[in-house]
Amino acid sequence: MSRLQAEHLYKVFGRRPDGAVEKLRHGADREELRAEGTTAAVIDASFTVEPGQIFVVMGLSGSGKSTLLRMLNGLSEPTAGQVLFDGQDLTKLSARELREVRSKKISMVFQHFALFPHRSVLENAAYGLEVQGLPRVEREKRATEALELAGLKGWEKSWPDELSGGMQQRVGLARALATDADLLLMDESFSALDPLIRRDMQDQLLELQKRLKKTIVFITHDLNEAMRLGDQIAVMRDGRIVQIGTSEDILVTPANDYVASFTQDVDRSRVLTAGAIMADPPEGFDMTAAPATVTADSPIIELFTPCSTSDVAVAVTDEKGALIGVVPRGRLLAVLGEPAPREEGPQDAAVPAQQAKDNGGKSVGKVSSGA
Ligand SMILES: Nc1ncnc2c1ncn2[C@@H]1O[C@H](COP(=O)(O)OP(=O)(O)OP(=O)(O)O)[C@@H](O)[C@H]1O
Ligand SMILES: [Mg+2]
Repeated sequence: MSRLQAEHLYKVFGRRPDGAVEKLRHGADREELRAEGTTAAVIDASFTVEPGQIFVVMGLSGSGKSTLLRMLNGLSEPTAGQVLFDGQDLTKLSARELREVRSKKISMVFQHFALFPHRSVLENAAYGLEVQGLPRVEREKRATEALELAGLKGWEKSWPDELSGGMQQRVGLARALATDADLLLMDESFSALDPLIRRDMQDQLLELQKRLKKTIVFITHDLNEAMRLGDQIAVMRDGRIVQIGTSEDILVTPANDYVASFTQDVDRSRVLTAGAIMADPPEGFDMTAAPATVTADSPIIELFTPCSTSDVAVAVTDEKGALIGVVPRGRLLAVLGEPAPREEGPQDAAVPAQQAKDNGGKSVGKVSSGA
């Protein structure tokens, strides 16, 4: 069972939202509704997030990311559609049941969140547990552990204003981790940070995720961040999800010109990995003849020299040295070229693409780093 499932979600602000949804279902777009004083913040969003995945939602300002996220934990009621969390329809829960789910199972790190200035770092991290009504000793124990996970061991007794912006952000993360929630919703959590600290936080999140295996929905407007973190990335435009796929899918087969324009400045040679572009090894492939042997997570820039000196494909192995794929020169050149132009299809096309991936797609190494 998927951990989280959004099915045809709509959120319309303004007058006659139900009528607006009908119009949207019949092909109206945001602009038409705006003329009537109605804002279609999220239009027909469907996706699934599997346990342990990081699902990134990326899009420009105003594309509907925060609104979508708020529907995922029931903070905002969908105008139409449903949200299933562990198979349970959040839109059908009573207010009390919803509060219960929200305090124990789903944790949110808000886009504009603030620490309580007159509480210590520890008390701030323990806030979610206080809401749950846990006794003080238990709260402090779990908040202390969460702070350590977030790299803030030793800062428990400090005040928020003694921390840098990045550290304060990590207190927010610790607060979410302390609740032990399975699902973390993170809205632009690293956007306010300096580039270097931001990268560091991304590394820490990936590192934490290896151990904790939470399910995470992470919002960003930064493509590099999306590519570093996301197992799946949903690209939003004007309220609609225009593509869902891995970072490789988005780079190599963008669903339309809009997505392609997002990715045009990305240095593919550093973002794509050998694992992402490799083919199955041909029958009887002789590894000893390969000009080089790399692992799935090697950026393809490392393949240029070997591919230029030999007609034999580069071998890709797992950590134990077993052959898992090959990268022939032609394939390397093909992925570096301009993406093949595609028809601007109906936006539903995004969903079957994801399902195809879930069913038959082999898992690929995560992209190695931003450009
Ligand atoms: N409570 C509200 N009432 C009316 N309109 C709203 C409300 N919340 C959001 N909107 C509108 O919905 C659209 C999507 O907003 P949203 O905040 O979800 O975008 P976003 O992608 O998170 O943007 P950003 O990157 O700037 O945070 C915007 O046009 C916004 O003005
Ligand atoms: Mg937002």
